[in-house]
Amino acid sequence: MQPRKLAWVSRCLPIPTFCLLLWVLYPTPRHALKPAHTNTTSTATQIDLQLQGSLIPPYSLTAILPLTHKSISTLEETLAPFLKPSTHLREIIIVCSQPIIAQARTVLRNAFSVECEQCPDLLLHTIPDRLDEHSGVVNAASQVSTEYVLLMAEDGLLHEDEDTRNTLLHPPATSVPIGPNGTNSASANGSCIVTSGSPKYVQYLYPPFVMPTLLAGKKGPRRSGIAVWADLSEHIAGNHPDGIGGIVLSTRTSPIKSPWCSTSGPEIDNSAQYPFVQDPPFFNEIQSDTCSSSEETATSRDVGVFALLLPTLEDFRAILPVVCSLQRQGHRIETFIYEESSGLSDAAGWETRSFTSKLCTAPYTIVFGNRKQRSPTGHILALEWLQGFGPQPDIVIYPREDDKLTLNLDVEISRADGPLQTIVPVRIFREDLPYSIWMGSLSLTEWRNWNVPRIDITIITKDRPHSLARLLTSLSNGRFFGDSVDLRVHAEQSSDLATMKTVENLTWKHGSLFVHHRIVHGGLLPAVVESWYPRSNDTYGLLLEDDVELSPLFYAWAKMTLLRYRYGDPRNRSPLMFGISLYQQKNIELPPEGRRPFDARKLFINSNVSDPITPYLSPIPCSWGAVYFPEHWREFHIYLALRLSEHSMKINQVVVPGVRSNRWTKSWKKYFIELVYLRGYVMLYPNYPDFISLSTNHLEVGSHVKVRTKEKEELFLVPLMELSSSRNVVGLLDLPGSTLPPWDALPVLNLTGCLTTLETLASQGRSRRTDLTGCTSEPQPHDVQDLMCIKQTSSP
Ligand SMILES: *[C@@H]1O[C@H](CO)[C@@H](O)[C@H](O)[C@H]1NC(C)=O
Ligand SMILES: *[C@@H]1O[C@H](CO)[C@@H](O)[C@H](O)[C@H]1NC(C)=O
Ligand SMILES: *[C@@H]1O[C@H](CO)[C@@H](O)[C@H](O)[C@H]1NC(C)=O
Ligand SMILES: *[C@@H]1O[C@H](CO)[C@@H](O)[C@H](O)[C@H]1NC(C)=O
Ligand SMILES: *[C@@H]1O[C@H](CO)[C@@H](O)[C@H](O)[C@H]1NC(C)=O
Ligand SMILES: *[C@@H]1O[C@H](CO)[C@@H](O)[C@H](O)[C@H]1NC(C)=O
Repeated sequence: MQPRKLAWVSRCLPIPTFCLLLWVLYPTPRHALKPAHTNTTSTATQIDLQLQGSLIPPYSLTAILPLTHKSISTLEETLAPFLKPSTHLREIIIVCSQPIIAQARTVLRNAFSVECEQCPDLLLHTIPDRLDEHSGVVNAASQVSTEYVLLMAEDGLLHEDEDTRNTLLHPPATSVPIGPNGTNSASANGSCIVTSGSPKYVQYLYPPFVMPTLLAGKKGPRRSGIAVWADLSEHIAGNHPDGIGGIVLSTRTSPIKSPWCSTSGPEIDNSAQYPFVQDPPFFNEIQSDTCSSSEETATSRDVGVFALLLPTLEDFRAILPVVCSLQRQGHRIETFIYEESSGLSDAAGWETRSFTSKLCTAPYTIVFGNRKQRSPTGHILALEWLQGFGPQPDIVIYPREDDKLTLNLDVEISRADGPLQTIVPVRIFREDLPYSIWMGSLSLTEWRNWNVPRIDITIITKDRPHSLARLLTSLSNGRFFGDSVDLRVHAEQSSDLATMKTVENLTWKHGSLFVHHRIVHGGLLPAVVESWYPRSNDTYGLLLEDDVELSPLFYAWAKMTLLRYRYGDPRNRSPLMFGISLYQQKNIELPPEGRRPFDARKLFINSNVSDPITPYLSPIPCSWGAVYFPEHWREFHIYLALRLSEHSMKINQVVVPGVRSNRWTKSWKKYFIELVYLRGYVMLYPNYPDFISLSTNHLEVGSHVKVRTKEKEELFLVPLMELSSSRNVVGLLDLPGSTLPPWDALPVLNLTGCLTTLETLASQGRSRRTDLTGCTSEPQPHDVQDLMCIKQTSSP
């Protein structure tokens, strides 16, 4: 849970009815909400104020709908409310049993041939044999990657009124389930459905309801059928401090007598239709995708099965370097070409051929037959092929732009009762395939975590409209390989008209776009520091000032390094790494005597580092294009607040001895350097030849730079890595052994650019902390009060 939400909830807890109103008010119209007993206007205003921003984040909702023989005839109607452009719904998962999947596919294909850019994705999952539709929904919920999930019964939202639908599709950010239908009493006597004019806390909810995805993840229903819901709620209520299983919305007016009331009792539902599931594995093991843990990866196999579904042979050719590289690592790669035909024939089907290049020989399967006869389409054949081949694939790679209904329909189809490890879908833009070569260096663990990290891009701008335009152009030329990336632009209060025009005119097709404009001039320190805050431990911030320009491959560098050093082999992960620079240092600014030219390659050669072309670690936080990690950025926020408050030391206290940044004023980097020094933290830097980087700085007149000269500009300008599929141009894999080195092989520099070790940095920081605070205890990770040694005095 995010700290903001946590603080808010705890503020609410003493007055639960009030709190509950906050959760549910916003999306429903005023008249439905006004509670009979608290209707003073001041309360209403307070509620309105507090509700600002209390909806779930954009695109953080997945809707799950079970499909049965009975409901298939109304499927189109049931789905209609979902297939509209939506601000919150990211995808809809339809779960159904194997026997009706073909029928479902036909209905879906006929119904949704229309292209809709902004609509949620539609996915089709099969339910493992032993589960019924209710368990199937909960099972699917435990595997979605969005933060919230909407669970439904077979009739979806058909019988809900407009307000309820609206609330469920744009739900408030609750920490417990919320829906129109629930009860307080397990030992029911027939009136168990709560219906009233105002929202109420209840113990149990019946679908449809929305809840945080995490609630589905831990322990599951003991029973099957309709009793699944009672079990789920019981589990949720059991973990809730006040035993709350959910909130019932205030939209029902007449009591509903429900069959559920009589099945929700403590006795086991013994309807013989479904086998009694003792200990459903899907609840014990599966955490939501976003927490893919190190335990799992440490034991998982390192050789996997990859399935590639590609429209044409041209696409296959484009991704061949990756295929060859994966083959060399011992993975099994199966490729299906579904749009192109290998020739005319009376029959339709597929055949296996192979493609030989300089790199390797790679087999592939291709559809044959007369295009007209090939019915219905290559997509269907591709799905059959996927279902048919031996072991369940670990990773399925397919084009992102392909029709949502066909292939991405999913993957799950092939694993009806396979193990619960989900297949990882990797959706890549076709146009990015020629630049995908870096993906060949990823390990299976890294591939498995492909969809886990998210990078938020943040731009800080003021009055350099031309710089901003250049940055935006470079950003829009960036390759995102099918990932969605949110963009935030922060315009300072003193932004000029041209800058504002540029900002207002901005479009962003890779994710959500947010524009902020300050009304009180804050200067660069708060502008940068407040421009981004992580919403989870898998959210990363790329901070960009407007005089930066990016290489089209910047995202690939960020993703490749994140996967290796945050989501790869546990031996390559270190809590000491606080970020990834896109920019290569050409000067070191921090020596007390002043700026000094710097060349990492030369330094490494002269110091006999075995691989002088390796990326390296340096404590210097880069402000010219760098990705910051969530835990460290959060810690920095706390450190900075504490430092500026002068609570534990005077503002002019020198924390880091002998560095030039002590003379800087109003610089966020100065304080980041302090934190980094006390902790022994480091940032990863690229080290490609000729200073080729993933970002550069144009050093334009602005907050830091008062006068700009040609010489000064050239001091900092570095060439950007070009977009090229040619092997003669410097690319991301110009690394030792064509892959990112293991963590412990990365050379480490200190703040003034001399080789050192992580241990030295850490022990320097520890002893400096002791000098400053008198504390000799071992510093606790990410705990700033402990770092500054002020915890002891404040605790009893
Ligand atoms: C239902 O049972 C509860 C207690 O179990 C009781 O208080 C309530 O009066 C009953 N309602 C009806 C309609 O029988
Ligand atoms: C509420 O739940 C009961 C219990 O099964 C169901 O019969 C009824 O249709 C539900 N109402 C709505 C509006 O979903
Ligand atoms: C705004 O965008 C339109 C269309 O993309 C473009 O023609 C126009 O020049 C832009 N205006 C500014 C001020 O950037
Ligand atoms: C995020 O990371 C911090 C620091 O390692 C940890 O204390 C916290 O529990 C993590 N949060 C989640 C939701 O995992
Ligand atoms: C590097 O190696 C050379 C030859 O082995 C040696 O002469 C030199 O002193 C070494 N330099 C350093 C910095 O270790
Ligand atoms: C970096 O290391 C060099 C050589 O060991 C040392 O002289 C210098 O003081 C160190 N810089 C800092 C900031 O600790």
